[in-house]
Amino acid sequence: MPGKLKVGVLVSGGGTNLQAIIDRAADGRLDAEVAIVISDVADAFALERARRAGIHAAFINPRDFPDRLAFNRAVIQKLRDHGVELVALAGYLRITSDELVDAFAGRIMNIHPSLVPSFCGKGMHGLRVHQAALDYGVKVTGCTVHFATKQVDAGPIIIQRTAPVLDDDTAETLSERVLKEEHIAYSEAIQLFAEGRLRIEGRRVRVLPAKC
Ligand code: GRF
Repeated sequence: MPGKLKVGVLVSGGGTNLQAIIDRAADGRLDAEVAIVISDVADAFALERARRAGIHAAFINPRDFPDRLAFNRAVIQKLRDHGVELVALAGYLRITSDELVDAFAGRIMNIHPSLVPSFCGKGMHGLRVHQAALDYGVKVTGCTVHFATKQVDAGPIIIQRTAPVLDDDTAETLSERVLKEEHIAYSEAIQLFAEGRLRIEGRRVRVLPAKC
């Protein structure tokens, strides 16, 4: 039997998506193991979550490098050192570098807390996304797991899950509702990848039937 898919997770913040992936892998619903968690932020709580789960946790300080290219190369090297087959961006606040996309072409996923192509792109992160959805007045929002490409939030979509927008929502309450969907969606997308069921066809991702 082939070994479990090795996932490298890049984070900058609290890491609830990371936690959901760790939990699904631990309870056997996800045929993957988190091989390494890398953060560009020293005190990201996600690093602590990784350590508690016995997973390698690395802080790579962008200031230790002369430029972005050198920093990105260090991240790629760390992922390779740990045998990473799939990179999952989970609240990683750096724009995905061209080098990373080239190094892991078709093997990088990102999660965004809206139904792409709404409320996404440069500068759209955190509560800003949910505030934009509220300001626009949409009745349904959600989350998107997609393959990362060189354009921000624009890669082929793997899974979207929806959440209702309620009349008295704030950006915070909406964010909490969407996060619950994110925690389901990310593991589902990784599981489909682990089963070899995702085929990128131009902008579309075809989900192949499960093998019996
Ligand atoms: C999530 O909303 C994710 O969609 C976005 O950043 C947030 C990260 O949350 N890319 P967490 O750190 O996983 O709790």
